[in-house]
Amino acid sequence: MSQKKISIFDTTLRDGEQSPGCSMYLEEKISMARQLELLGVDVIEAGFPFASEGDFQSVAAVARECRSTTIAALCRTVPSDIYRAAEALKDAKKARIHTFVATSDIHLQYKLKKTRDEVLEMTANAVRIARGCVDDVEFSAEDATRSDVDFLCQVFEVAVNEGATVLNVPDTVGYTLPGEFAALVTTVKERVVRDRNVTISVHCHNDLGLAVANSLAAVEAGATQVECTVNGVGERAGNASLEELVMAIAVRGDKMPYSNNIDTTQLYPASQLLSSIVGFGVQPNKAIVGRNAFAHEAGIHQHGVLSNPLCYEIMTPESVGVPKNNIVLGKHSGRHALIARYQELGLIFEDNEIAEIYTRFIALADRKKNVYDQDLLALAPARIPVAIAA
Ligand code: KIV
Ligand code: ZN
Repeated sequence: MSQKKISIFDTTLRDGEQSPGCSMYLEEKISMARQLELLGVDVIEAGFPFASEGDFQSVAAVARECRSTTIAALCRTVPSDIYRAAEALKDAKKARIHTFVATSDIHLQYKLKKTRDEVLEMTANAVRIARGCVDDVEFSAEDATRSDVDFLCQVFEVAVNEGATVLNVPDTVGYTLPGEFAALVTTVKERVVRDRNVTISVHCHNDLGLAVANSLAAVEAGATQVECTVNGVGERAGNASLEELVMAIAVRGDKMPYSNNIDTTQLYPASQLLSSIVGFGVQPNKAIVGRNAFAHEAGIHQHGVLSNPLCYEIMTPESVGVPKNNIVLGKHSGRHALIARYQELGLIFEDNEIAEIYTRFIALADRKKNVYDQDLLALAPARIPVAIAA
């Protein structure tokens, strides 16, 4: 059976960066973008150029750096925003302008203070201007899941008629449920897309912990692009986690026969790199990339896994790039283990720096039972992590 291709749109550098404590410097964004290219994402949303000079420069730099991936820049449906996005993308090999406007009555009334007709006009103008700048234009209806469905379809229709190539259905506030979201995607497909060559995309937030489930339900209903972030970072409770989406599809190919371009062995390195850049890691029990994701504590489980890992593991640690020798760092660990761990985190230090870090490490290990990546990041001098090749 031929497999439906799902495009992975990564917004770690845009929506992810909007989450508290996740802001990144330009060099860090370039480093992360290189890792995302190694991972094989189809689109990197590199920032919101109109928002700040820093964001503009980051999008421009990522656009120059990444030649195999489409680079997207976000903008409101405001002409000055769109031209700024186009300017930031001018050196990109493959550029996408991503323009958005809210469509729910609550956003129209309290945030935008616009009528529905005005929103329709803003959409038409924005997509037309964006198509005058680039061939690939994504249109997002912010708060789509709380919008009146007839109005939502009207806005999407206008966007397609003006040349939008991708229609994105965001669950901006993480409110929807899988069945309901699938039905919405089906409606957009039947009423707006029909037989036209337009991609349906989804963008789910995790306020109810349903971002991945909602995204997968949407894919089953016909969406062929999912927007997500490494480690699930993003506004509030975050976005759909890239590693969870990709591995759900990889592990359950029997029920979800979809393909994508992701090299799953780069998932763990990507997660580690992001953690070192933002200075905090994922929770220990985080699926796929958490410290305990492949750890077995109970004797009965340990025995099963030793006899055959399939007893308790539905995927291997190696398949997501978790190194085989996950050495536990403690007060008996030597410098080599410490250097190796920092290298896995993308951090390389001079000998004299390692000597100082090691002294601090031993002092900490004397007080704490286990020393985790977060501790190591806090012990080390600030440094831009580098992308870790396979
Ligand atoms: O959550 C959201 O609605 C967004 C849009 C800009 C796509 O991030
Ligand atoms: Zn978002």
